[in-house]
This record gives sequence, structure tokens and C-alpha cells, in this order.
Amino acid sequence: MIRAYTKAEVREAVRQWKKEGLTVGLVPTMGYLHEGHASLVDKAVSMCDRVVVSDFVNPTQFGPNEDLESYPRDFERDCALLEEHGASLVFHPEPAEMYDPDAATFVEILSEMPKQLCGKTRPIHFRGVCTVVSKLFNIVNPDKAFFGQKDAQQLAIIRKMVRDMCYDIEIVGCPIIREDDGLAKSSRNTYLSEAERSAALCLSRAIFLGKDMVKNGETDAAAIKAAMTREIESEPLARIDYVECVDGSTMMPVDTITGHNLVAIAVYIGKTRLIDNFIVEGDLVQ
Ligand code: PAF
Repeated sequence: MIRAYTKAEVREAVRQWKKEGLTVGLVPTMGYLHEGHASLVDKAVSMCDRVVVSDFVNPTQFGPNEDLESYPRDFERDCALLEEHGASLVFHPEPAEMYDPDAATFVEILSEMPKQLCGKTRPIHFRGVCTVVSKLFNIVNPDKAFFGQKDAQQLAIIRKMVRDMCYDIEIVGCPIIREDDGLAKSSRNTYLSEAERSAALCLSRAIFLGKDMVKNGETDAAAIKAAMTREIESEPLARIDYVECVDGSTMMPVDTITGHNLVAIAVYIGKTRLIDNFIVEGDLVQ
């Protein structure tokens, strides 16, 4: 696996691969990789000849009081996991390699979509995500890019950006990977104390409850949200940020589950903010 630290090194490797007629997949990450990331790399390896993984904690997607400084980092461990899963190149730039000191260009979706769900408490987050992902697309020039459905709003926003900006890149969404007890895998799970780790199970319990209700024919979003809220509130260490049923493309709230919907939650466990969701596609609950 090539370790690249500059845009030039990435471009050189990709140019060579494309000359050989090989397809290139990109898995954007912020590092501190877990099995969720590994599943994205596996999917990319199964669909592309060469796989680039970016490992970069992107400063522009963190708000002033968020966890940019404390976000967990372990590049050597990340490299070991990536080698094991068959990545061809890891791109690990310094912030200055990605952002000039006078950088003044951002990519931002100006609809209501990035203001919903996580956008309510993280107003600049998706502007930072779109900007860095757009830069990565321009640096790597991939045929396909792979994103987890755990960040469902991010996935919908990236799909919209790709359409709006005419990127010739196929966006592949990959399922949520869970711990054995149900907790969705996240780099932020490492922040949880032992008591918080068990309290965090209220998220997946609420998700499974909501899923079951939809499976059993419930279509009233208010009833689903109320039941999920009760489940989360039964946990004293939990504080709800949102419990929402939205349209799967626009992220706008819906009153009735009709298919192509997203049921998403964000919950603080102590100081740690965790998210989880499920998708309803027609009759199919994922
Ligand atoms: O999902 C993430 O880890 C980040 O938001 C991403 C897509 C790598 C952009 O920094």
C-alpha cells in the first residue's frame, strides 16, 4: 500500500493506474478506522481495481465548540487495517496540504436539506463535508466513491452535490455496521465510559423499535417518533438532539411513512453525540 501525504503523490499514482485502464474507488474517512470503515474498503475492493482511502480529520466540518482537537487519531493502526483489507493507497495529508492559508472557496448546498437533522446543531458541518469531499474528488478523480449509510444525511447531501456539480462519479452507499449488542460502530464510541457505553444502547433499541413498528404497518410518523423518544428517555444518561422521520432525498420532515423515508436520531450520551438511523424503501425496512 502506498502512503501518500501530498496531492501530487496521489495524482501521480492515479494517473499511472488510469493509463493502465484500471478503475479507481475512493473511500473518504477521518481515520481511527473500525469495521464500519473496513466494510466500505471491502466493498470498494470488490468493485474497483484500485482503492484510495483518505485519512484526514477535516477541520472545516467541525464547529468552534466541537471535538476537532480531541478527535481520535492512530495512523499506524489505520494503515495496518487498510493493508489487511487490500487498499492500494492511503492519503494522509496535513491540513495545510488541503487548505491554503487564504482558502476562500467552499462548496455548499443552499437548500433546506443541510439545515435539517444534524444541520440544526451543526450549522457549518455539511459545508465543510461538501468542500473536503469535493477537493478529494478533484485530487483522486475516482470512478466510484463509497460512503456509509450511518451518516445518512451526509450520503444524501453528497449524492445531491454530485448531481448538482456534474461529477462523473458513482456514489455507493454501504449498510450500517453494528457491534454484537446493536450499537452502530463509530470512532466516537471510544469517548464513552463503561456506564455510557451501556447507556448508548438506547439508540439501537429505539431504532429496532421504530423498524418493528414500520414492519408491522405503522405509518404515522408522530407515533413512531413518540415510541422511539420514550425508549431513549428511559435511559437517564441520554439527552435527545432529534428523533425525526424525513424524506429520504430531501431530508424534509414527513407526517406519514410512505416509502423512501429515513428515520434518524441523534442523542447525547454524556458529552458524546451519537447518531443512528434506518431507511424505509417502499415496503422494505433496512
Ligand atoms: O464521514 C466522514 O468521516 C467525513 O465526514 C468525511 C466524508 C470523510 C469527510 O471528511
